[in-house]
Amino acid sequence: MQIIRTTDYDHMSRMAANIISAQVIMKPDCVLGLATGSTPIGTYEELVRRYENKDLDFSGVTSINLDEYKGLSPENDQSYRYFMNEHLFRHVNIRPECTYVPNGLEPDSDKACEAYNAIIAASGGIDLQLLGLGHNGHIGFNEPSDVFEKETHCVDLAQSTIDANSRFFASMDEVPRQAYTMGIGTIMKAAKVLVIVSGESKAQIVKDAFFGPCTPQVPASILQLHSNVVLVGDEAALSLIPEA
Ligand code: GLP
Repeated sequence: MQIIRTTDYDHMSRMAANIISAQVIMKPDCVLGLATGSTPIGTYEELVRRYENKDLDFSGVTSINLDEYKGLSPENDQSYRYFMNEHLFRHVNIRPECTYVPNGLEPDSDKACEAYNAIIAASGGIDLQLLGLGHNGHIGFNEPSDVFEKETHCVDLAQSTIDANSRFFASMDEVPRQAYTMGIGTIMKAAKVLVIVSGESKAQIVKDAFFGPCTPQVPASILQLHSNVVLVGDEAALSLIPEA
């Protein structure tokens, strides 16, 4: 694993955008696995800036997002489809029909997950997967569990995740309890993985995930077994891991 230490959130965002830009420049028809959450917002802003400066062209890119809340429509401002439209898609020249997010409105979980697995398979595989990190070690919405789930599945969100995400909703009752998420097996099949972390609150889980035992109780710890992972973090998030 390569670790890139950055000074702060903005620096982390620029470095992450550098890596994604390199991917898009070197392989214009690449498949990007994309993430939501507060951490990648700055990275997406950087990518938009580069597109506006004509340094990046998304016209050949396909994107496949990690996850979506079950029950939320694309128009709901808390859905991940809405997030992606607002933070990236509508600002760049990616073809809308080549942007994929699980269908939160499909009530039949098996159907939703099979459809998403088919999309991932048809894409030919993810070239670069961007990941944030939940405070309990979740990636996408793969919550701590007794097993590593391989493919897209419907998850019951952990109470800590519901609590953490409640800040975005008007009331606790509105926070979805379930989500569709890409599986750990799919994430592990990505040719490259880019993990971004920022802030002191992530320091302990960064240490546990990348320097602790590999266990489904800390889903991100499986990334220790991936041969091409870059961890880009600011000083605060990387403060508990070894210097070298
Ligand atoms: C959500 C998302 C994850 C994200 C995590 C951390 O639960 N499903 O993909 O990594 O939150 O979010 P943040 O970046 O806001 O800390």
